[in-house]
Amino acid sequence: MPDMKTLLHVRSSLFGDQGQSAVLAADLISQWQARNPGARVIVRDLIATPLPHLDAERFAALNSKPEVRTHSQQRIVAESDALIAELREADQIVLAAPMYNFAIPSQLKSWFDHIARAGVTFRYTESGAEGLLGGRPVTVLATRGGFYAGTPADSQTPWLATMLGFLGLTEVTFIYAEGIAVSADRKAEALREARAQIAAAVGHEAV
Ligand SMILES: Cc1cc2nc3c(=O)[nH]c(=O)nc-3n(C[C@H](O)[C@H](O)[C@H](O)COP(=O)(O)O)c2cc1C
Repeated sequence: MPDMKTLLHVRSSLFGDQGQSAVLAADLISQWQARNPGARVIVRDLIATPLPHLDAERFAALNSKPEVRTHSQQRIVAESDALIAELREADQIVLAAPMYNFAIPSQLKSWFDHIARAGVTFRYTESGAEGLLGGRPVTVLATRGGFYAGTPADSQTPWLATMLGFLGLTEVTFIYAEGIAVSADRKAEALREARAQIAAAVGHEAV
């Protein structure tokens, strides 16, 4: 059987399928599937199934030695392992990343808190940190009510680039739909522009 491609779709809009990032992700995925018949899509819906905050108990569990883990620590580690396994299975990653209060949704931050694991998804070497998830292109669908791309007020996408890069995910395409809250016309234009970028990215196999 030829290699079947896998795409991991990470959802984090409060508005489910009606979220603008979800609408754009659906568009991207249907175009990608048309080019990759039979491909698999894994959906990680962080709103339908939120992860807890990374608290002291969870952090201790994630850093515990396997041979001394309690049952409760094993459960916490297994949850994180499953998230990382999804990432490793993926050839492509699509992150739907709405801007909420100048940041990514807290549910998406929690996901990163559970996948950033020393010795598993990154390690420290003599020459610095090394990410261990490389080789998977990431497309970020950044939806915003206002206009921030390229300005110091964009505290979202530079953070994502740093965080993803830290994990070895250095091939990142950012697609923006900005000004969604300005007016119905601007919203339609933003989505049109984003769709054009999606079509170009899928066409160039950047996605
Ligand atoms: C709780 C909340 C906070 C928001 N904060 C911001 C913000 O700080 N800056 C901004 O430009 N838009 C903000 N917005 C508007 C969203 O970015 C916009 O509605 C976008 O479409 C969200 O993506 P989604 O539709 O995929 O959820 C906020 C929306 C909500 C619901």
